[in-house]
Amino acid sequence: MDRKITVEDILACKNKRKITMLTAYDYPLASLIDKAGINIILVGDSVANVVLGLNSTTEVGMTEMLHHAKAVTRAVKHALVVGDMPYESYQLNPQESVKNAKRFIEEAGCDAVKLEWFDRCLEVTEEIIKSKIAVMGHIGLTPQTADKLGGFKVQGRDAETARRLIEQATALERVGCFSLVLECVPDKLAQIITRKLRIPTIGIGAGIYCDGQVLVTHDLLGLFERFTPKFVKRYINISELITRAIQDFKNEVINEKFPTPAHSFTIKEEELRKL
Ligand code: KIV
Repeated sequence: MDRKITVEDILACKNKRKITMLTAYDYPLASLIDKAGINIILVGDSVANVVLGLNSTTEVGMTEMLHHAKAVTRAVKHALVVGDMPYESYQLNPQESVKNAKRFIEEAGCDAVKLEWFDRCLEVTEEIIKSKIAVMGHIGLTPQTADKLGGFKVQGRDAETARRLIEQATALERVGCFSLVLECVPDKLAQIITRKLRIPTIGIGAGIYCDGQVLVTHDLLGLFERFTPKFVKRYINISELITRAIQDFKNEVINEKFPTPAHSFTIKEEELRKL
């Protein structure tokens, strides 16, 4: 596609073609992901773990998220860019949430925002949508509040919690979300939710039946080695390639093989003689 992907394009994918989504936090990776034709780029708060070396996504705020979102939107020509609202940027009150959501759109140039399910999620989501900002929902394992869910565990494995997730999904559709991330839920539950909704579901650890799939790019590239969840498929081990290139550089510098004349600049002999 030659133009920017819109929210309407994403909605139109439902029951027609699968949606692809990846995370990006900087210009070079966003540019490569966009050139590869991925539909949605999420500036995820996973930046905390995979880029900033922090332990929890709750450790990043608006300053960090806007900084990374701006780098991504500078690079992206086609994909829909979604800014992930960080912890505490939408939990305080709906007015503050709308203000912060607007900053993703107006300051950082994002096309939409994503927020994770929490107690007052519907009220807040509705207010943001009323202010004409497209919202992607996120239910199941919501990392910002994982401690309330018993840790980083699959959600909706019994009928009661599964029913609650179905209710959350339908409520988020009702208030106007344009899509919904399902994280770490059983594949058959994701199938039920996907069939029930008119908006697309995008799964991460939610099986094959979702309308689309998202992964953290650093996981699929093998660029984050601290831990690898079961649902991640590592398509390449780029850490190995990077390490090899860095070692080659080190050895060539030590052995005076780099730089060669091809990487150097010259000065005329007559100018040299004047020194
Ligand atoms: O921050 C993130 O990367 C996410 C995805 C895992 C959906 O929220």
